[in-house]
Amino acid sequence: MDHSNKTAVSEISKEQKEELISRALAKLPDAYAPYSHFHVAAALLCRDGEIYTGCNVENASYPAGICAERSAFSAAVSGGKRQFDAIAIAGGMDGKPQDYCAPCGICRQFMREFVHPDQFIILLAKSPSEYREYTLSQLLPESFGPENLGKA
Ligand code: THU
Repeated sequence: MDHSNKTAVSEISKEQKEELISRALAKLPDAYAPYSHFHVAAALLCRDGEIYTGCNVENASYPAGICAERSAFSAAVSGGKRQFDAIAIAGGMDGKPQDYCAPCGICRQFMREFVHPDQFIILLAKSPSEYREYTLSQLLPESFGPENLGKA
């Protein structure tokens, strides 16, 4: 698949990863999850170095809620950003990230719209020093994206 419109990321340093994870962890108290009590937060690194954060926002009409990852992406895209290098995700019951919180399928597809699947880094974090690292391709193989509709 041709991803020529999405330029490759230059390497992200360990310090940048830790900073991104810290920003996600710091956002956890803002999660609005009165129904599931499962709090999730995300910090999205834009190509220009800016970081946007997001959290899950639930709703009494359950399907109307939004996940942390789409919240962060929506904030960044609304802020005019179009190029992204990495996202850190943290979540757990009552805001305690005791395990790694993987993005749901809808969020994986949502990210796919804006990133190079082989280059975009997804950090699943329990703490700044405890994290797992994936590319979007690893979490969403053989994906469908804008290029399939001639929107490269
Ligand atoms: N959630 C996220 O925010 N991100 C994910 O990738 C997994 C699930 C939220 C949605 C809902 O508010 C709660 O976690 C329980 O599913």
